[in-house]
Amino acid sequence: MMTAKEIRQAFLDFFAARGHDIVPSAPIVVKNDPTLMFNNAGMNQFKDYFLGNKTPKNPRIADTQKCMRVSGKHNDLEDVGVDTYHHTMFEMLGNWSISDYFKEEAIKWSWELLTDVYHLPKDRLYATVFEGDAKEGLPPAEVALREWRKLMPENHIIYGNKKDNFWEMGDSGPCGPCSEIHIDLRPDDERQAIPGEQLVNRDHPQVIEIWNNVFIQFNRKADGSLESLPAKHVDTGMGFERLVRAVQGKSSNYDTDVFMPIIERIAQITGVPYGKSEPTDIAIRVLADHIRAIVFTINDGQLPSNNGAGYVVRRILRRAVRYAFSTLQYKQPILFQLVPTVAAQFTDIFPEVQANQSFLQRVILEEENSFLRTLESGLRKVAQIEEQLKAQNSTHIDGNTAFELYDTYGFPADLTRLIAREKGLTIDETEFAVAMAAQKERARAAAKIETGDWHALNDQQSEFVGYDTLEAYTTVVKYREVAQKNKKQYQIVLAQTPFYGESGGQVGDTGTLQFGNQTIKVVDTKKKTTLSYW
Ligand code: SER
Repeated sequence: MMTAKEIRQAFLDFFAARGHDIVPSAPIVVKNDPTLMFNNAGMNQFKDYFLGNKTPKNPRIADTQKCMRVSGKHNDLEDVGVDTYHHTMFEMLGNWSISDYFKEEAIKWSWELLTDVYHLPKDRLYATVFEGDAKEGLPPAEVALREWRKLMPENHIIYGNKKDNFWEMGDSGPCGPCSEIHIDLRPDDERQAIPGEQLVNRDHPQVIEIWNNVFIQFNRKADGSLESLPAKHVDTGMGFERLVRAVQGKSSNYDTDVFMPIIERIAQITGVPYGKSEPTDIAIRVLADHIRAIVFTINDGQLPSNNGAGYVVRRILRRAVRYAFSTLQYKQPILFQLVPTVAAQFTDIFPEVQANQSFLQRVILEEENSFLRTLESGLRKVAQIEEQLKAQNSTHIDGNTAFELYDTYGFPADLTRLIAREKGLTIDETEFAVAMAAQKERARAAAKIETGDWHALNDQQSEFVGYDTLEAYTTVVKYREVAQKNKKQYQIVLAQTPFYGESGGQVGDTGTLQFGNQTIKVVDTKKKTTLSYW
């Protein structure tokens, strides 16, 4: 049986042998793009090639991309671990043609790789093709249909609508019709009872999509219209963890050698074996999945925090800790202990994880400890609430008390719900929602920044002199008042400034401004302006 490492390498070798440059994965964390926090498809880093803004060295490219999908129509964080084939972090194997080969080669090669190299049984494979969309003026697939007809019987080719067979990067950007490859991994008796073609794209856990071949021909513009691109491209993406499961003949992604070493380590640490009961299996899968997302996002520069991408990392980490804490009854930090096992999985392809192992462990341990402290104080408060309810002969937690647990004690609302259910208590959800909405409004008001008008003292342009000097004698060009939470500060633009502002992920310079005898501190406000400071 091929190992996961061999399966990944075989993909890269196959496309290298067909003239593709094998490039590194882009970082999983996306910086400087307000529309995307994490890379969610292999093609993200090549967007400019598709739009014709840049030209690659070689028009044929392949790689494995570290991806994360934690929200949206396909992946809800809450589903991960409950089922056996969705993940937060996953690898997407991809090959691209930038205005080079098109549908014929892409389809022929995908079939060759799956059936000749990976030896997937042909009778279990299905292809979907685009049925067209009159409203968008898009015709049904012709070439893809013709190519698949050469390779598989008619009843293995399925027409799909725009939702399934027209791939778009987001609300705008490169897009085009696609042809997906699905595999039916059910046992033979089930396959005989219900033919696989009836289950394609129906959320069946054993009849799953493994590879998407997108034929990028359009750009979706911000106003919603489609514009034909000057050149046609291929963008394919194959879920590595699903492919490994198919090649290794397993019924769950977690039963492969991608996840089993992590699962075994979790079982060893907690003393809870995998395969014993559904609730503990779900908890173990949550941990096995989430530790990979946590390791890769932190390793690519995103520390857990209270907003944006950092908050997503924090939420994933806390979800894992909660499952360990309440379902596996493991009440100490666990995730940091899994880092060496995860790192060992990737020594050949992402060796940087092992190189950063001790840093990753430190960050994760600190985050786990702080959340465990929150959980403990929250649990003490829950016990008090329970006592009070008992005294009042009630089983109903009012919404404000539930909200206080969340707001003051930082106790996750879903954990309150879980504990309440376990103890036979109910929560006033309507009152809770009202309290939550009021708090959000308060936060919005507190965060409101009032920016005054600029007062220009002259019309000089500001000049950055920081490459040559760290000090400059200069004058103020303009200033304005900025008020936040009743605190007044000033932004000042200087004629010459050695201060480099935060931009492109860099931290802004700090220092002092000297006005006669007065010294004013210059701090980085994380505002992405290069020349103004509080
Ligand atoms: N961009 C397509 C996808 O993510 C194929 O790579 O499915």
